[in-house]
Formats: sequence, C-alpha cells, structure tokens
Amino acid sequence: MRKTVIAGNWKMNMTPKAAGAFISELAPMVKGKDKCDIVLCVPFVDIATAAEAAKGTNIKIGAQNVHFEQKGAFTGEIAADMLLEAGAEYVIVGHSERRQYFGETDTTVNLRTKAALAAGLKVILCLGEVKDQRLSGITDEVVAMQTKLDLAGIPEEDLKNVVIAYEPVWAIGTGLTATPEQADETCGVIRKTIAAIYSKKAADEIVIQYGGSMNDGNAAELLAKTNVDGGLIGGASLKTDKFTAIVDAANK
Ligand code: PGA
Repeated sequence: MRKTVIAGNWKMNMTPKAAGAFISELAPMVKGKDKCDIVLCVPFVDIATAAEAAKGTNIKIGAQNVHFEQKGAFTGEIAADMLLEAGAEYVIVGHSERRQYFGETDTTVNLRTKAALAAGLKVILCLGEVKDQRLSGITDEVVAMQTKLDLAGIPEEDLKNVVIAYEPVWAIGTGLTATPEQADETCGVIRKTIAAIYSKKAADEIVIQYGGSMNDGNAAELLAKTNVDGGLIGGASLKTDKFTAIVDAANK
C-alpha cells in the first residue's frame, strides 16, 4: 500500500552542468521503473538545470534544505517558494550533517518542515541516532523523541507530504550499514510513534526510508523489510549505474 521512494542526496557535489548531464544519462536507465518514486536532491544552484533535464521523465527534483521564513534578512538562506519556482518538488530537512555541522536542532527542523509543507513542498525529514546512543541502548527513545519534536504541531493531513528518512548517523558515509533487522526495527519504532501521535492509519501510510551507506549491494535486502519503504542514498546516488541498481531493487 505504501509506495517506495528512492531518493538521492547529492550533498555538495556536482555543478549545474554536471547535474544536467547526469540526469540525461540516468533518465533512459530508470524509464518505466515506476514501482518507486525517484527523487534527486541536488545543490540549490543545480535545481533549475536538473528540473529542466528531468522534464517528461519519472525523476523528481528536490533540494537539501529550506529556511523557515518566507523572506527577509537571512543572508545565505533559501525560501520554500524559491525552491518551488526553481523546479523542486521535494526538500530534505534535518539531515544529520545539518544537525552536526550547522547547528540544526529539532526546533529548527520542525519550523523548516512546517514552512516547506505550507508552501506545497514534499519533505524528506531525516532523523537517527548517533553511535554513542546506539551503544548505550537508547536508540528507540532517541528516534521516538525526534519524531515527536520534528513533527510537533503538524496536522495528520499534512503527513501525506512527509517522508521520514531513518538515518543512523554512524552509518552515513562510513560504509557501515545498519543490518536489515536493525533498519526494520528502528523504522518500526518510528512507525509506532506515528501511531501514538496520530493514528494507526497515519502509521500504516507514512513512507519511512532507510539511509546510511545504502548501495547496489545491500539495497535489496534492506528494501525487503516490512518497515523500510525506500532509501535516502548519498554516495551511491552519484553514479548512474549504482543508483539505477537501487531503483531496480525497488522495482522487483
Ligand atoms: P551515504 O549518505 O549513502 O553516503 O551514507 C546517506 C545520506 O547522508 O543521506
């Protein structure tokens, strides 16, 4: 009943020219593979070129952050309507690199999510525990708390435009992947939290991705898990063949 969402997170990689060339190469490779939604979250300056290259294909374009105000004196920030007009349909909010290096908190993640949803963007909301938290056995509490804080005040009807990406921080860019069982279990904790805050229906319907060193070699077994409805892919989204292999795994 839930549609799988395979999203690439390019992070700070690829110029606009490179983005256009990448998407032109990828489009025929993923054509007709419609059992999943395919999204590429690209650097801000790539969005217009990427959206142009993706026109008429099954590839959707997203951004990697959004500010929570609509406009004003916020040097260096980008507002939701700017992203929409440039051609983005999705935006990543709360990525652990933003939380780690740029002072993002659950409060600002919540504000950004609300602003993006109000403008009509779909949000890929990232959360996940750090290594010490997993080792201390408090992963479930951490992700439940993040889910509650990040979604505070967001009405149930808006959840159709929210994808949650469960990304254990220790697995991002490290080559360490959560086992399919760990991914399934923690995505399940997030789903239970959604049931507790909203309803069983909301929990059954919300798309929860796994992210953290997902690649062409491990995607199939991660995606086979009941609670894993897709992937947020960093490194492996920068190569058309690797990314296509993940899309293929989601289309089996
Ligand atoms: P990775 O990144 O696939 O390179 O681990 C995932 C992410 O940060 O979204």
